[in-house]
Amino acid sequence: MTLATDNPVLDRVVALLRDLQGVDFGGHTASTLTRRVQWRAALCGLSDLPAYARFLAGNPAEQLALRSALLVQVTQFWRDPPMWEALHDKVLPTLGYASRREGRGLRAWSAGCADGRETWTLASLLWASAADGWLVVGSDLDPTAVQFAQDGVYAASALGELPELLGPRTLDLKGAYVQVKPGLRPAVRFCVHDLAGVQIAPEAAVVARFDLVLCRNVLIYLQPQVREVVLRKLAAVLPAGGVLVLGLSESLHGEATRWFEPLVEVSRQLRMYRRTQEAL
Ligand SMILES: C[S@@+](CC[C@H](N)C(=O)[O-])C[C@H]1O[C@@H](n2cnc3c(N)ncnc32)[C@H](O)[C@@H]1O
Repeated sequence: MTLATDNPVLDRVVALLRDLQGVDFGGHTASTLTRRVQWRAALCGLSDLPAYARFLAGNPAEQLALRSALLVQVTQFWRDPPMWEALHDKVLPTLGYASRREGRGLRAWSAGCADGRETWTLASLLWASAADGWLVVGSDLDPTAVQFAQDGVYAASALGELPELLGPRTLDLKGAYVQVKPGLRPAVRFCVHDLAGVQIAPEAAVVARFDLVLCRNVLIYLQPQVREVVLRKLAAVLPAGGVLVLGLSESLHGEATRWFEPLVEVSRQLRMYRRTQEAL
């Protein structure tokens, strides 16, 4: 989904990445594009954006560097602890109803999962709390991040303070690295998926229906029209009663306020919403 900015040089940069690297940043906010492109241009010693656009056109290594700068993959295990605590204590216990009625395990989707730390955190909670048969899908636009997530190996220094539920129970320490325990893997799948693209759910979902969707710190980089496209997609995979979690600085927009309502049992600041009965 390419939307024009009001800057022809940025539009040219977006078109270059789309045509040469196959990633469409046309839905990203002009401020994110400007900041990141200026940052890469400065690192390349080019303060003039048209000169940077010309340099980019003939330089595949810089195309990859800009692509990865624009994908902003900041993440952590157990990022925003109050959200995970509320998920574990108050939300997960309410979520089994639809899955039991349908005779299946709980299904959760970590959308825009970066290198998988969010997905493995989610999987560790379900491992500890949910009945057998649960499934977690992690997806991201970036194939390199998805491969990393799938491998499930992280520098031990990237862990920070982790609760018992996540640390020793789910991660094996191997020298300077931690590795996700084999017991966790069969119920976790990763795949490449563009939240702003045409496909509603990631392929690994098997069926496009989830009880819980985490889409945190992704919408913030997208233009309002694209946020609405993404929220419509997330509403489409959640049955009434299913839960959506956004990042702490994100919120619902436009029509999406009809499809979701804040979870009354948790603080509004945690950006957790329940899917309403409202049709799309
Ligand atoms: C800042 S990270 C957030 C990671 C994780 N959700 C968290 O909160 O820690 C944003 C991620 O969104 C991904 N992303 C950006 N646009 C996307 C799109 N259209 N579809 C899927 N993922 C996207 C990026 O590749 C990046 O990995």
